Amino acid sequence: MPDGITQNDLSAFWMPFTANRRFKKDPRILVSAEGMYYKSHDNRDILDGTAGLWCVNAGHARPKIVEAVQKQVKELDFAPTFQFGHNKAFELASRLRDLFPGDLDHIFFTNSGSESGDTALKIALAYQRARGQGTRTRLIGRERGYHGVGFGGISVGGIVKNRMYFGTLLTGVDHIRHTHDMEHNAFTKGEPEYGAHFADDLERLVTLHDASTIAAVMVEPMAGSTGVLMPPKGYLKRLREICDKHGILLIFDEVITGFGRLGYATAAERFGVLPDIITTAKGLTNAVIPMGAVAVRKEIYDTMMDKADAPIELFHGYTYSGHPVAAAAGIATLDTYREEGLFENALALEPYLADAIHSLKDHPNVVDIRNMGMVAAVEMSARPGAPGERGYDAMVKAYEMGAMIRVTGDIIAISPPLMAEKKHIDDLVGIIGDTLKAVA
Ligand SMILES: Cc1ncc(COP(=O)(O)O)c(C=O)c1O
Repeated sequence: MPDGITQNDLSAFWMPFTANRRFKKDPRILVSAEGMYYKSHDNRDILDGTAGLWCVNAGHARPKIVEAVQKQVKELDFAPTFQFGHNKAFELASRLRDLFPGDLDHIFFTNSGSESGDTALKIALAYQRARGQGTRTRLIGRERGYHGVGFGGISVGGIVKNRMYFGTLLTGVDHIRHTHDMEHNAFTKGEPEYGAHFADDLERLVTLHDASTIAAVMVEPMAGSTGVLMPPKGYLKRLREICDKHGILLIFDEVITGFGRLGYATAAERFGVLPDIITTAKGLTNAVIPMGAVAVRKEIYDTMMDKADAPIELFHGYTYSGHPVAAAAGIATLDTYREEGLFENALALEPYLADAIHSLKDHPNVVDIRNMGMVAAVEMSARPGAPGERGYDAMVKAYEMGAMIRVTGDIIAISPPLMAEKKHIDDLVGIIGDTLKAVA
């Protein structure tokens, strides 16, 4: 037990997505953070191989963001955005409009990726109705998709454990197949060659349900939480074409891929595919204050303004939508990304990270390695009859050796802050190599 902490102190907090009983017997307590490192309760430096939880993209305790938050709390701690407004929310929305590609010009604020997902789905339904296509009520997701934990997100999402305990979920939801194909694509750097045609699975659902019943398709351009699955070359373009052909909205969940993770402000930009709606959170404020944002194309906003019910066009919002302190953090975060060229750094380091991580190919139990931007995954084979156990042990071992990694089942995922340098990649990959041996 860490100094000064008793088993009893740990019992009240029901930890999210955590093996509570295991954790509380052998806790991993973080006490401070700066730059690329956490400090653990036993005073060790822990290299942050995951940018917290895919969110601290600029690194920890960045001065500009800290100062902006401190100043904002003093000046205007809270103001509602229902029927009132404050400058920081408008300023951040304008900054995001300028940053996002195409005519993704209008921003709805939320507090998390889950809320962004549910918000996007609701906007899609309300928009279809406003434009006279009210029969389009069906929502399509993808197997292995993760869109947070709201009922919309878990319904459209495709992760069995996130769905199976929670009843019948939303009705009228269906899923296209996932894009993971190790037989053809194992050990690919960047986008795999094989699998553009996986997008045609949407045609199957259109044939089954008819396009006139489908409002939107939601996918992560690169699926993160399910274990880092890259889109095959041409896949997203094909998905866009099929959506266009049938009047279906395309939603990109960019909660992980937004804000530089793949070397650009958005994955939409990296892949040259413009969705109708983008959901974000995490890196938006560098995770300093929780916030999410949903960007919609001009046509959607204009239709809602012209054709939805008046005077309130969208019956949706959160008490903290556009919270002033979060908005101030967001503006300072965008400044930090730009001033330090962090998106560019992620892109420049991609080949280095690729070579480093793929050097682990011959380590024990490695069945696939994949990477893109500042993200990489090492997939291990499961221990017989015990899926996920090797992964869990790897997470614990890596922490003991001084690095935070993330595991999904038996897949190790890394996504360091974008300020990472070669030496951090070397250290992280070195620890992962030792970890693979330790859990063999
Ligand atoms: C793609 C994606 N969407 C949504 C979410 C949910 O975000 P939050 O945990 O902030 O609700 C996540 C979180 O990891 C995510 O990766």
